[in-house]
Amino acid sequence: MAKSENITWQTTKIDKAQRQARFGHKSAVLWFTGLSGSGKSTIAVEVEKYLFEHQINSYVLDGDNVRFGLNSNLGFSAEDRAENIRRIGEVSKLFVDAGIITLTAFISPYQEDRERVRKILDPDEFIEVFVDTPLEVCEQRDVKHLYEKARRGEIKGFTGIDAPYEAPEHPEITIDTSKQSLETSVQQIVSYLEKHHYIK
Ligand code: PPS
Repeated sequence: MAKSENITWQTTKIDKAQRQARFGHKSAVLWFTGLSGSGKSTIAVEVEKYLFEHQINSYVLDGDNVRFGLNSNLGFSAEDRAENIRRIGEVSKLFVDAGIITLTAFISPYQEDRERVRKILDPDEFIEVFVDTPLEVCEQRDVKHLYEKARRGEIKGFTGIDAPYEAPEHPEITIDTSKQSLETSVQQIVSYLEKHHYIK
C-alpha cells in the first residue's frame, strides 16, 4: 500500500480529556470477538441501548454493516480480515478520541489483529469481550444459514468450519450465551464499566 508523504499531524484545541469531562464518562472500545452467530451484535446492541438510556454516548460498529460501506472492498481471506480489523481499530480510536464508548462486533478471529488494535489505544481503552459461545450452539442457531452453506462447501473459508478462530488468551470479559441470558450479559458488561470507573 502506498504511504502518504509530506503530511503533518494537526493538533486541535479540544482534547479527549475535555470531551470526557463534559460527557461525564470515560471513553473506550468494548471489542466483541467470537464466532459468527455467537451473539456479538445482539449483546453490543443491547449494551448500546442501556448506555444511551443512561445518557452515555455510545456507538456500535458492526461487521456486516461496516462491510456494506467502509470495507465493501474486503473479503474473508486472512489478509482482508486483517485489513478489516486494522481499519475498524483506527475508526474506533477516532471514536474514543471523540469521547464515545464504542462497541465493535467483528469476528476478528486472529489474535495478532486484535492485539494490534489494543496497542494503538491507551491500555485501559481496549476492553476485549470474548463471546465464547460453542461452535455447536452457533451452528445450531444458524440464523443466516451460513453454517449450512459452509458445510455444503458453498462458502469457502468460513470461520470455525474451514478457517481458524483464535480465542483470546486474556479477555477482560468472557460471556457464554449458551449459559447466560442476554440480560445477564448486558449487566455483566455494565458492571465492568462501573467497577472500573468508565461510567458512574
Ligand atoms: S472478520 O473475520 O472479523 O473480518 O469478519 P466480520 O467483518 O465480523 O464479518 C463477519 C460476518 O460476515 C458474514 N460472513 C462470514 N463470516 C465468517 N467467515 C466467512 N467466510 C464469512 N462470509 C460471510 C457472517 O454473516 C458474519 O456475521 P456475524 O455477525 O459474525 O454472524
